[in-house]
Amino acid sequence: MARVPLNDLSRTDAATASNIVRAVADVIDRGAFLKNRYTAELEQRLSNRLAGRPVLGVGNGTDALYLALRATGVGVGRRVANVANAGGYTTGATLRAGGSPVFVDVDPRTAQMSRAALATVLEATPDVVAVVLTHLYGLVGDVQVIRSLCDERNVTLIEDCAQSMGASVDGRSVGTFGDIATLSFYPTKNLGAFGDAGAVVCATPDLHERVSVLAQYGWGQRYEVTVPGGINSRIDEIQAAVLLEAERLLDAQNERRRAIVSRYAAAVQGERYLLAEQTERYVGHLAVMVTEQRSEDAKRLDASGVGTGIHYPISDHRQPGWETAVPRAELPNTDWLVDRILTLPCFPAMSDDEVDQVADALASL
Ligand SMILES: Cc1ncc(COP(=O)(O)O)c(C=O)c1O
Repeated sequence: MARVPLNDLSRTDAATASNIVRAVADVIDRGAFLKNRYTAELEQRLSNRLAGRPVLGVGNGTDALYLALRATGVGVGRRVANVANAGGYTTGATLRAGGSPVFVDVDPRTAQMSRAALATVLEATPDVVAVVLTHLYGLVGDVQVIRSLCDERNVTLIEDCAQSMGASVDGRSVGTFGDIATLSFYPTKNLGAFGDAGAVVCATPDLHERVSVLAQYGWGQRYEVTVPGGINSRIDEIQAAVLLEAERLLDAQNERRRAIVSRYAAAVQGERYLLAEQTERYVGHLAVMVTEQRSEDAKRLDASGVGTGIHYPISDHRQPGWETAVPRAELPNTDWLVDRILTLPCFPAMSDDEVDQVADALASL
């Protein structure tokens, strides 16, 4: 029996691959490897998708979070509210900025930040200066209500769109609700590079300028540090060239991802459910099933040739390396979900036969 992998990044189609090879050859010929034509074109293309907001290409999605936090004033001792089930990227960036995370529980039906839990946290912790809303698994969180909660208290809203590129709410793209938004182009992302890359999307030119300075050593001008906390984080021309090709495919690939997950949602049995929606709010980044019998299901899927994974197996408030760095937190829904989530294969280059094989395996659980 053929095996269906959780993901397979080797399946770039021949036409896309040859366009990319041509673009990379052009970068080499031009001898301009940073902050040049392809980066500018990519930033413009992304900006067109994001209501014209200015976009800055950076080194990766984790740097994007760090830069967004620093640019909006998160420094030593500042508190940032975020979920604990999203892989630790925000918590790590907050700690790196000198800030302190305050964890917010999630809604068990969606795995996204619970607006009720956030309201409670903001009430109990009035010194929270920023909320990071991660649109996890490609599903948009409760962004409009959370925007209002932030506005009521003058708290910055940062959207982490690493997993949700292309999703929207009432026709409005994710990444345009926050004061600032971050993207990752890690190769498995819906918009993926051939290496590390990321971007920051800002609501205002001023914020964009602040992020740009922080992303280039803190230089106000060449060799003059005007802002502390600067790092070196730039997208390179080769990744920008790759992403310009990938971006053309994004919407069709998101549609394919949604269709795959829809097959799974129709096939699952009993109490099991998918953390997914068949709407513009979901772009199928990961197909995550919730099941009471995770290890048994994983074994049976494996026996049917279906690869699975767990995103993410350890919540931030239980990471051993952060034991003394993060506050204790009661997060019953986060704890409940972490033992029940199981990721199924979902990538646009899956064949119809592979999708059928996974759906049949799910139906027989
Ligand atoms: C939700 C989320 N935020 C941030 C990141 C960090 O991005 P990167 O790996 O590009 O640093 C990732 C993934 O890698 C992610 O899934």
